[in-house]
Amino acid sequence: FKKSSINKTVHPNGTLQQLPQTIIIGVRKGGTRALLEMLSLHPDIAVAESEVHFFDWEEHYRNGLQWYRNQMPFSHPHQITVEKTPAYFTSSKVPKRVYGMNKFTSLLLILRDPVERMVSDYTQVFFNHMQKHLPYPSIEEFLVKDGELNMNYKAINRSLYYIHMQNWLKYFPLDNIHVVDGDKLIRDPFSEIVKVERFLKLSPQINASNFYFNKTKGFYCLKDRGRNRCLHESKGRAHPKIDSFLLQKLYEYFCDHNQKFFELLGRTFDWC
Ligand code: A3P
Repeated sequence: FKKSSINKTVHPNGTLQQLPQTIIIGVRKGGTRALLEMLSLHPDIAVAESEVHFFDWEEHYRNGLQWYRNQMPFSHPHQITVEKTPAYFTSSKVPKRVYGMNKFTSLLLILRDPVERMVSDYTQVFFNHMQKHLPYPSIEEFLVKDGELNMNYKAINRSLYYIHMQNWLKYFPLDNIHVVDGDKLIRDPFSEIVKVERFLKLSPQINASNFYFNKTKGFYCLKDRGRNRCLHESKGRAHPKIDSFLLQKLYEYFCDHNQKFFELLGRTFDWC
């Protein structure tokens, strides 16, 4: 190993650790792991396997960019390094910090129907409690307070994409942010990945044959250099059934916010 002039650690085989040129900023439960895994099929992509939480956790951010770089995989100079930390999207201090690192960073944001995302968010925390044999309230107990929707429930707030997107647009133009349709990535991953390849100006190397539908899992899995692999069992969980009246209220509530978000983006989704 030797230190190059720009203070990067260079491996004898010519690979080095590079700051990410592309970041998957969220959204939590949007399909961020699936997106990262699918992108990693591309030979010009090198991904950080774990969520780094550099820009949102003070104990990491204060370590500085050299520390951040050290968390990145070794890659060839022509490769794009990608990091994903879904909490970045909803953390208001993060856009300025990413801009401060590199204002040309390409941002990937994968979104899902806000109600679906919220239920997925609840389900994740529910399972975390179950694993530790801890009791956890029903989703209705979080959603309703004094007969009204409980806006203080964090999982609701994280689905208000309009609010969080505004924070990012203070620093990054829309041209730097590619929004991946997470619902479509579930149904037809190849078509969404092709758009990401184009956005990142990558040569088209990911093929339809890299994906196959696994009936047992109920999701697409990946064929990677002859090896088949599905996402971890924690991805693609069954969701609790929600009372239909409450569900309707949720859709009505999110619909207004969604419309504002569509205007901001100049693009619509099948959410309401
Ligand atoms: P559910 O488990 O609620 O279905 P994240 O990685 O951001 O936490 O997102 C998890 C979600 O990714 C899952 O939520 C699942 O719906 C979605 N997903 C998208 N494509 C998938 C795939 N091919 N395999 C498994 N989950 C996938």
